[in-house]
Amino acid sequence: MKNIVILISGTGSNMAAILHAAERERWQTRLGARVAAVISNRPDAKGLLTAAEAGVATAVVDHKAYSGRAEFDAALREAIDVHEPTLVVLAGFMRILTPEFVAHYAGRIVNIHPSLLPAFPGLHTHQRAIDAGCKLAGVTVHLVTAELDHGPILAQAAVPVLPGDTADTLAARVLSQEHLIYPRAVAEWLQTA
Ligand code: GAR
Repeated sequence: MKNIVILISGTGSNMAAILHAAERERWQTRLGARVAAVISNRPDAKGLLTAAEAGVATAVVDHKAYSGRAEFDAALREAIDVHEPTLVVLAGFMRILTPEFVAHYAGRIVNIHPSLLPAFPGLHTHQRAIDAGCKLAGVTVHLVTAELDHGPILAQAAVPVLPGDTADTLAARVLSQEHLIYPRAVAEWLQTA
């Protein structure tokens, strides 16, 4: 069985989209894959409840309980590796990872970022796209490398930036595309794994 471990920090709507796709498209029988666990760095992440309700194992590795990035990453790695993951999926996981952590999962860790990379890596992507006068915005799924929000692109989707858009209205338009392309990109990755 190909085990997927999803890391979240908040709402987990992308995680939920992946769980729904796995169920609807019968990933277990078709791809020999299942979501083995959902892990959050925040104990209050709403997505933990969603995952538990779906019968998925959950865990919390609270970054505040560790003295530094290396210590946190080591604990996170332990919590992930218990599940012998084929693929690690960052889904709104808002922590910068150490190069050592990324190297451990090289080629088998993916992220979703709410911009058309390489434009607007980092935070506040929607406001920055509006401020730059972009007519198109979007979302990127990519393999994770040591450099933040870089790495080979697996999938992208574009949406228009409309007159009067705020960061919130644009974020909602982008998010609806995220929910379509992330499960698809994960399924495609699993097909060749
Ligand atoms: C999503 O928009 C995701 O692209 C973004 O956080 C949101 C999480 O929503 N990720 C990043 O900004 C990573 N740099 P979700 O918890 O509902 O999936």
